[in-house]
Amino acid sequence: MAKSMHNAVMVSEVLDALQIKNGGRYIDATLGGATHSIEMLKNLGPNGRLISFDVDPLALTNARSKQKDFGNRWQIVESNFRNIEQVANESGLGPFDGILFDLGISSDQLADESKGISFQIDGPLDMRLGPNANQDGLTAATIVNRWSEKELTRLFRVYGEEKRATSIAKAIVARRRQKKFETTFDLAGLIAEKSSQTATKARIHPATKVFQALRIAVNDELESLKVALQGARKILAPNGVIVVISFHSLEDRIVKQTFKSFKDFTVSKKPILPTENEIKINPRARSAKLRVAHKNAIQNQNLCPEPTLLL
Ligand SMILES: C[S@@+](CC[C@H](N)C(=O)[O-])C[C@H]1O[C@@H](n2cnc3c(N)ncnc32)[C@H](O)[C@@H]1O
Repeated sequence: MAKSMHNAVMVSEVLDALQIKNGGRYIDATLGGATHSIEMLKNLGPNGRLISFDVDPLALTNARSKQKDFGNRWQIVESNFRNIEQVANESGLGPFDGILFDLGISSDQLADESKGISFQIDGPLDMRLGPNANQDGLTAATIVNRWSEKELTRLFRVYGEEKRATSIAKAIVARRRQKKFETTFDLAGLIAEKSSQTATKARIHPATKVFQALRIAVNDELESLKVALQGARKILAPNGVIVVISFHSLEDRIVKQTFKSFKDFTVSKKPILPTENEIKINPRARSAKLRVAHKNAIQNQNLCPEPTLLL
């Protein structure tokens, strides 16, 4: 199988934040090209354990080809990370000392034409990160060909933060009356054509935000993240740590607000950012934000025996 081309971000910052314990129990909720997982495994010692999650069979196959070096210390599971609590409980390995989320997609997925995620590569308008990435089989084609103009406008505005949401939705609905959308180029072409009539100099491709919105909706990314963070909280050991790398403001807002609501955690206020040097080498890192939340140790008072009654 092809080797992963994905260049993992903030690897040393992740290891600093996780402070891997020899013999500890860890979860990598987003396996991808497996760089973070393997670095975690190298620091775990012979008795440590790691469970890695992904929904993409290609990421799982790639990781399994490296699994023999780590034996039963590394469990690789095909599962959405929204099931983190259930999978962790079934593993019998908990509570866990650290959990990593490196959100979004890998370069391998972006380059995979069969996934239809990139507006720069022609492929079917699918966008699922894996065949079982969502429960209802929803694809980007279903959304653009069936959702109402109002629903599309809202989607592009909320998940894409797209200023031209209304006109793009209108153009999509007008075009699909003649011919349904089937491919990424089909959709990206229409958006580019509409934008060239109004745009001046855009810094990003005019279809960037619409494609982001569709991918988030197809994979139910924001809801999965919310559910997963709540699950992670429950399966974490006292003094355990949750580390999340996000790549856009919608994700970062959820991480920030969810961490803030965890009253039994200590949370660093400011995110950690990649170094300029890393951004130079790996431009994908430029929008990365790493947030860390530590579960507090059990307070002494919880451990005290019941006070003796004075009779
Ligand atoms: C940015 S990549 C992770 C890269 C990885 N940290 C590495 O070292 O190469 C994100 C990965 O998370 C996976 N992913 C995204 N959402 C997921 C979800 N809800 N459940 C499980 N895996 C998910 C994607 O399929 C992708 O492989």
